[in-house]
Amino acid sequence: MRPTVAPFPAARLRRTRKSAAIRGLVRETALSVEDLIWPIFVRDGNDLAEPVASMPGVNRLSIDRAVAAAQQAAELGIPALCIFPYTDASLKTATCEEAWNPDNLSNRAIRAIKAAVPGIAVMTDIALDPYNANGHDGIVRDGEIVNDETVEALVRMALAQAEAGADILGPSDMMDGRIGAMRAALESAGHTNVCILSYAAKYASAFYGPFRDAVGASGVLTGDKATYQMDPANSDEALRLIQRDLNEGADMVMIKPGMPYLDICRRVKDNFGVPTYAYQVSGEYAMLQAAAQNGWLDGEKVMLESLLSFKRAGCDGILTYFAPAVAKMLKAG
Ligand code: PBG
Repeated sequence: MRPTVAPFPAARLRRTRKSAAIRGLVRETALSVEDLIWPIFVRDGNDLAEPVASMPGVNRLSIDRAVAAAQQAAELGIPALCIFPYTDASLKTATCEEAWNPDNLSNRAIRAIKAAVPGIAVMTDIALDPYNANGHDGIVRDGEIVNDETVEALVRMALAQAEAGADILGPSDMMDGRIGAMRAALESAGHTNVCILSYAAKYASAFYGPFRDAVGASGVLTGDKATYQMDPANSDEALRLIQRDLNEGADMVMIKPGMPYLDICRRVKDNFGVPTYAYQVSGEYAMLQAAAQNGWLDGEKVMLESLLSFKRAGCDGILTYFAPAVAKMLKAG
């Protein structure tokens, strides 16, 4: 639909901007606390909150502190948390067995949070990188990230997370065929109500740098992820990936990173009309926080404006490290 505009002065588009009241009446989108998924980093130990240097304001939390964070999130009305484990280097192997250990850090965190705060939705990440000695999302054999063997590992990981009580599984690995394999395995194991939020259009991005520090993967990654994550130059390919994952049984889809890919968010929403999420990733958070800390940007305003841009681009929700800060602001009004 092309908007129609009467000639000046019949149309003076400033009329609908003349007061806060009228601007409110014509506002097209809004950010709500219900749109937020809060990614948190968990680590071993007790009563620990260890700052992540490249993500000011973000900490790696011991499980007891993660439970407290979940309680705080629930009080603020944040509907979901997403758990990322900082796995001890001694548990990282080339075969990644720790990924499907029912008692690994991530699965212990899921159980603890669901026991203490059953109402909050717990989302997970499915990829082998926190457990892989070489930092890749898949199993590496002779320098190649092997697809089908990785999918088998990811299915085991998915089942262990569902068993631990995860509500939403987030495959972020970009292997082919993993959504269908996970959906079939979940159905046969009786986990018929576990959602899959597929990181369907995930780009090979330099904006993930601070995250890799947070999960302890920076030093270990050999090479790059370009043979499985998407080329930032592509857009049509994102639609094919989304279509494919929906056909295989994804309930919701994600575009990642967020701000540099708002065009993809809009195309996905317009083409498929399915629950669509963007991940405002670690590098996006880091650059806004760094500029705010230097006094170069107004931190609160750019936080709100950046999050609103996802709603305007058609997203139903956003994974953002700003979740608790923005929830507090929305609550205060
Ligand atoms: C793991 C994963 C990554 C992120 C989420 N899951 C990193 C990567 O693919 O290298 C990045 C999140 C962020 O940067 O905030 N597969």
